[in-house]
Amino acid sequence: MSAYPIAYNWMRTVRIEKIVNENPKVKTFYFKDKLCQNARPGQFLMVWIPGVDEIPLSVSGVYPNGLASVTVAKVGEATEAMHKLKQNDLIGVRGPFGNHFEISGNKFLLIGGGTGMAPLAFLAEKLAENPCEITFIIGAKSVQELLFLERIKKTLSELKSKIIVMTEDGSFGQKGVATDPLYNLLREEKYDMIYACGPEPMIKKAFLAAEEANIPFQASLERIMRCGVGICGSCMLGKYRVCRDGPVFTSWQLREVIDEFANYKRNFDGRRIRL
Ligand SMILES: Cc1cc2nc3c(=O)[nH]c(=O)nc-3n(C[C@H](O)[C@H](O)[C@H](O)COP(=O)(O)OP(=O)(O)OC[C@H]3O[C@@H](n4cnc5c(N)ncnc54)[C@H](O)[C@@H]3O)c2cc1C
Ligand code: FES
Repeated sequence: MSAYPIAYNWMRTVRIEKIVNENPKVKTFYFKDKLCQNARPGQFLMVWIPGVDEIPLSVSGVYPNGLASVTVAKVGEATEAMHKLKQNDLIGVRGPFGNHFEISGNKFLLIGGGTGMAPLAFLAEKLAENPCEITFIIGAKSVQELLFLERIKKTLSELKSKIIVMTEDGSFGQKGVATDPLYNLLREEKYDMIYACGPEPMIKKAFLAAEEANIPFQASLERIMRCGVGICGSCMLGKYRVCRDGPVFTSWQLREVIDEFANYKRNFDGRRIRL
């Protein structure tokens, strides 16, 4: 059974108010919706692209003017169709669904790769509402694919903070992957919480580093999703349904699914396949 009030699961039609090109493969779409206005960082929407498909997307921000946003990488049929939409076009939204990042402590390490930056940029904005210290590692393949650097700089500008940019080809920041600086950072500093989102192998490396340093960890994970509300079973991760029990998982939950985490996912037929 779905635990959501029915209103969340109703498809609402919303008008795209604004589209921002973040980089050649990623766009952010802004729209107004009362339920999305109250979304928390880590929650996701099921977004209907008319005539094409419905796909899960993290809420990438909520704004004082009543707008909410999703940030979308062009990877296949539905996301390509979404990239072709224009201002004033209509999309459908259900949600926000799932749990959210829990805020605990006041010294945080955030590590994001690719569109995993979407929920983390939103989280950084929430964390920055209270006095705290943030180290943010941003990973991307190249400078062209970097996401939200200026937004993060602005968010962290009033805080004690450090931003580390890693690009795989060395075209900006330091050359390497997002997890490269982790072990040094964790040797030098004690954090209250590590938050991660991005490719699952990146999340697993960050999780193992957090375990070694004995630091609590939360990560937002992705699986194929159809219903988004815990009914269809297409998003299973071990005993969990990612849409209903996640998408944010804690250290102890990840320990429970360690065999499947970053090793297997379900394909569109529901079969378990190696990642
Ligand atoms: C909770 C959650 C939050 C997400 N947040 C974002 C986000 O903020 N920005 C973003 O760009 N992407 C996000 N995704 C991934 C996004 O849903 C997929 O990229 C999208 O569904 C691909 O659809 P497509 O038709 O364009 O590509 P397809 O041709 O269907 O597939 C391309 C790739 O995307 C994967 N994929 C396809 N459908 C899904 C699905 N329903 N769920 C998960 N993965 C899928 C496939 O395994 C394949 O690797 C999120 C996924 C989940 C589960
Ligand atoms: S998407 Fe249907 S159970 Fe999670």
